[in-house]
Amino acid sequence: MAGAIAYLSRDTDGVLWNKVLEAGLGPLDFRTRDNLGNKDEIEVVLAWKPDRGLIASFPNVKLIVSLGMGVDHLLADDQLPAGVPITRIMDDGLVGQMSEYAIYFALRHHRDIDKYGESQRAKRWKPEDFVDTIHRRIGITGLGTIGQDTAKKFTALGFPTAGWSRTQKSLPGVETFHGPDGLAAFLARTDILVNVLPLTRDTKGLLDAKLFTALPKGAYLINMGRGGHVVDADLLAAIDSGHLAGAALDVFNTEPLPESHPYWTHPKVKVTPHIAGATNPRTASPGVIENIKRVRIGQPLLNTVDPVTGY
Ligand code: NDP
Ligand code: OXD
Repeated sequence: MAGAIAYLSRDTDGVLWNKVLEAGLGPLDFRTRDNLGNKDEIEVVLAWKPDRGLIASFPNVKLIVSLGMGVDHLLADDQLPAGVPITRIMDDGLVGQMSEYAIYFALRHHRDIDKYGESQRAKRWKPEDFVDTIHRRIGITGLGTIGQDTAKKFTALGFPTAGWSRTQKSLPGVETFHGPDGLAAFLARTDILVNVLPLTRDTKGLLDAKLFTALPKGAYLINMGRGGHVVDADLLAAIDSGHLAGAALDVFNTEPLPESHPYWTHPKVKVTPHIAGATNPRTASPGVIENIKRVRIGQPLLNTVDPVTGY
């Protein structure tokens, strides 16, 4: 049998990953974080928020697989072994869920569903004024795998849609902006900001008071990137001052979100527990299986990530 696979995640027990990988690779020596055995035998690591320094204790590891599309949870480990390739999962199912999340909260805000909820509770029959779809401008920070799918779907619904990325992009029907110089113009035309950036040293804390001020009054935030993008005090201040209409937040600076956090009870904030896009081993495993096969025969890997920049 080939080397062992170490499954390093606290969130799930790994049973399904073991099953889907065995279906593609044959019998496996699959080990979970509480039962790692002889660490010299570990060849491949599947990781989600691994303990700092743990991967460095596997002297023969050949491949590190991020169990999320984001890799910030891995790169936060400053002891990752140098020279070992890092790949991330790619999962169309997860990408579709992310777009659904953004569209759901955008439509909920756009169609005033919360106001109608209040009216129903008060038994009040009161049609509200509304904004035409062609005048509700969506702006997506991050135009990668997820941002592009989300942009395409908002465009199909008739919303004027723009995206902001690091490098220049061209997408049918989507207005594109890039780089620090393109940010102000992008924000000035954005009524609903959907954040789906990766968390890197350049994007940490990007959603701060300065950025919120650059959005039009009444703008709404949907954050499904990472909690570390948001300066929480600045977001709460922007909402409480009435500059922002509210926010739907899936990701947080501290997860789980502490019970005492004001987001939980804020009337204009929606909180979900990092579920915008859930990794599904059934749809994510083909790419992982392919990379395990490739690493075993020394072929170039798919979906690799630079360990320094994260992209
Ligand atoms: P990609 O790497 O495919 O795309 C990232 C995009 O962000 C690219 O368009 C990139 O620009 C842009 N970007 C990166 N850095 C900058 C910067 N400094 N300035 C402007 N744009 C920048 O990532 P994915 O779409 O696959 O995923 C994005 C993130 O979504 C993940 O990293 C993760 O944090 C989050 N996520 C959250 C989930 C959830 O459940 N809440 C689930 C899955 C992912 P360019 O193309 O020019 O490089
Ligand atoms: C991911 C996530 O990065 O679930 O895939 O956050």
